Amino acid sequence: MNQSDVLATLAQKEYVGRSFDLLTNIEKESGKKLTASVITFGCQMNARDSEKLAGILAASGFELLEDSEDADFVLYNTCTVRDNANQKLYGHLGEALSRKKKNPGMMIGICGCLPQEPSALEKIKKSYSFVDLIFGTHNLYAFPEYLNRLLSGERHICEITDHADNIVEDLPIIRKYSFKSGVNIMFGCNNFCTYCIVPHVRGRERSRESGDILDEIRALAENGVKEVMLLGQNVNSYGNGIDGEISFPELLKRVCDIDGIERVRFMTSHPKDLSEDLIQTIKSDEKICRHLHLPLQSGSTRVLKEMNRRYTKEQYLDLALRIKDEIPDIALTTDIMVGFPGETAADVDDTIDVIKKVEYDNAFTFIYSKRMGTPAASREDQVPEALVKENFDRVLKCVQESAKKQSLRWQGMVLPALVEETNSSLEGYVTGRLSNNMIVHFPGTPDMIGSIVSVKLEECRGFYYMGSV
Ligand code: SAH
Ligand code: SF4
Ligand code: F3S
Repeated sequence: MNQSDVLATLAQKEYVGRSFDLLTNIEKESGKKLTASVITFGCQMNARDSEKLAGILAASGFELLEDSEDADFVLYNTCTVRDNANQKLYGHLGEALSRKKKNPGMMIGICGCLPQEPSALEKIKKSYSFVDLIFGTHNLYAFPEYLNRLLSGERHICEITDHADNIVEDLPIIRKYSFKSGVNIMFGCNNFCTYCIVPHVRGRERSRESGDILDEIRALAENGVKEVMLLGQNVNSYGNGIDGEISFPELLKRVCDIDGIERVRFMTSHPKDLSEDLIQTIKSDEKICRHLHLPLQSGSTRVLKEMNRRYTKEQYLDLALRIKDEIPDIALTTDIMVGFPGETAADVDDTIDVIKKVEYDNAFTFIYSKRMGTPAASREDQVPEALVKENFDRVLKCVQESAKKQSLRWQGMVLPALVEETNSSLEGYVTGRLSNNMIVHFPGTPDMIGSIVSVKLEECRGFYYMGSV
């Protein structure tokens, strides 16, 4: 942290203390304990941010409710990567209004990616004027200050900036799991894929200092964390722009060297700069999980160029097959988009060709969604809905066949699984995650949560296994 970051951190910590006093008074007057909850949409970055927001709420004295919108303060941490993410939030806000009518003291907040987009922000201010607090991704560190203003009675607080001033470290945090944790290694994105809103709402790429990252992971390990997931929109460019900073593969090695850390994951890898060094690093350290998420988006070189992905179909295939060749037990997953402007059935044939050749273990398939302010949104050759639907179904079918076939390759093996939770639908069962990210359900007890056990994979049921210790 530089000096300005340190000062910003101290100031925010002071606000937490002041909010605690205010809240104590409010609770005395109302005679009840105030509750709060954070409702999270979107990706792993948002999930991690929500742990920070929850930590601040708890440190300020709120009783935290999990996944409940019946709290006195509900904070929606939003996503806007596709339009359906926006629609989902609007649905929740509609219901929040009826709750607020029943509980007039209720406070509603919106943060995260969605309000960073000007037209969405306008819509919230106009159509959902009952929202009490709005802040963006770059202002997250100042949440203690906004909370303080809210508890002092201020309403209609709206704080959005278009760039980050500070990387504030070590504010309070509440982790969802005691045994695993996400760790931000970088923020923002510089890639500007032409369909994508993320660089617009998350700002330019900024890496955290490796010393801070490693300190954080050491502290997590001391607190019982066994698995960390290093988070960034493009982890392969970690350290770019910081003089003398180590590379991503070197960072991975140092994380693996930390006592107590038994598993390391990372998300997301952009294919354009995944290095040979990274492949060899994964291969040589068993602590690095046998799972790589390598977004393809499209298999058509022409479409990829128009998406500004900076790799061709052949380069992608070469990379993916090389990885599978070097590390045969790795699970490869991907993101695929259908319906990018100008996409033809022949382009989609190329995508299907890549799926068949790579044989993904799993893939997320998305229908292209027009995002305001991105270059692709203003193109006139948007693909008709009927064609998109037809192409999407073809891609989905191919992905499902591949995933089904790949899932079977673990049948009968005995593999270590990190037990994550008790199974909510099967009495007496627990759910574990394999290094390759597959899920296995097997008979077990709650005391196993957080431990790594060897599980025999007995029965493949599509995308998960049933097994036994
Ligand atoms: N940084 C990651 C992706 C983050 S967004 C990467 O580059 O791989 C997660 C996924 O959402 C993307 O991989 C893409 O498939 C999808 N996505 C992004 N923008 C989209 C849009 N406008 N419409 C549909 N899907 C989109
Ligand atoms: Fe979006 Fe591309 Fe950045 Fe991923 S790499 S977040 S798809 S702009
Ligand atoms: Fe969504 Fe923001 Fe993540 S737009 S996908 S929550 S970076």
